[in-house]
Amino acid sequence: MKMAGNTVLITGGGSGIGLAFAERFLEKGNSVIIVGRREEKLQEAKEKFPELHTKVCDLSKQEERVSLFEWVTSHFPDVNVLVNNAGIQQRVNVLKATESWDYYSKEIHINVEGLIHLSLLFIPYFLTRTDASIINISSGLAIRPGAWVPIYSATKSAVHSFTTSLRLQLENTHISVVEVFPPAVNTDLGGAGLHTFGAPLDSFADSIFERFEKGDLEIGYEDSEKRLHASREENEEGMKKAWEGFLKGNPDF
Ligand SMILES: NC(=O)c1ccc[n+]([C@@H]2O[C@H](COP(=O)([O-])OP(=O)(O)OC[C@H]3O[C@@H](n4cnc5c(N)ncnc54)[C@H](OP(=O)(O)O)[C@@H]3O)[C@@H](O)[C@H]2O)c1
Repeated sequence: MKMAGNTVLITGGGSGIGLAFAERFLEKGNSVIIVGRREEKLQEAKEKFPELHTKVCDLSKQEERVSLFEWVTSHFPDVNVLVNNAGIQQRVNVLKATESWDYYSKEIHINVEGLIHLSLLFIPYFLTRTDASIINISSGLAIRPGAWVPIYSATKSAVHSFTTSLRLQLENTHISVVEVFPPAVNTDLGGAGLHTFGAPLDSFADSIFERFEKGDLEIGYEDSEKRLHASREENEEGMKKAWEGFLKGNPDF
């Protein structure tokens, strides 16, 4: 994908990985629109990077996704890059799953339904542009599930599957389809403090941008890159070890 002169829409761009990507896209000479539910996070981001454009939107809701598409394409008709980054993560013990279905289905609505629907909305528009990209953020857990986040891991496998089909269906168009598989990265995903053990955000984002520049289409980092090339047995073994480690560190789970 070309790295400058794009108009980039980043979902969940007010914090974490989305904001780190927004900063780098701006530095390289792109226009960037960030979207999220919390206006104060978007405002904070805009104070830091005044060139950013912001829009409050709850992407778990179908009507808000359609309104976002209409708003973006009318205010930023040059839009040609969609970064499907917004996501949530919930720890779920299936032996104590006493919440209502609304609680559990949130992860599916935002992580999967939001991403697929936005992709379908933007593809026909992107076909009218000369150059376009869809960048989907899945996870190393798409390849090797984290048993403590079973619904989240399933949503990320779904993102990986959908992205793979999308790439094949769009191979004879000028829309490139990129998937980023972050490993654990130090952001507030799942709640503040839960990912402090993860990779530093800036090193992760710098490495991903180097891979964008190279034109790579499936991009991991450190542990998640290894998972992409591991055997099924290695991933199953790794999953069991991680689950045992999680239970040791979280005996009340
Ligand atoms: N950090 C990691 O260890 C890690 C590892 C693998 C994959 N990832 C993936 O990376 C992506 C970014 O996560 P992050 O680590 O940067 O965490 P984060 O800082 O919590 O970012 C998630 C972003 O998504 C937005 N979002 C959540 N629900 C939304 C909704 N319904 N509508 C619109 N925006 C919504 C959030 O903004 P609002 O709350 O304001 O809406 C937030 O800005 C996610 O897809 C995550 O699954 C992260």
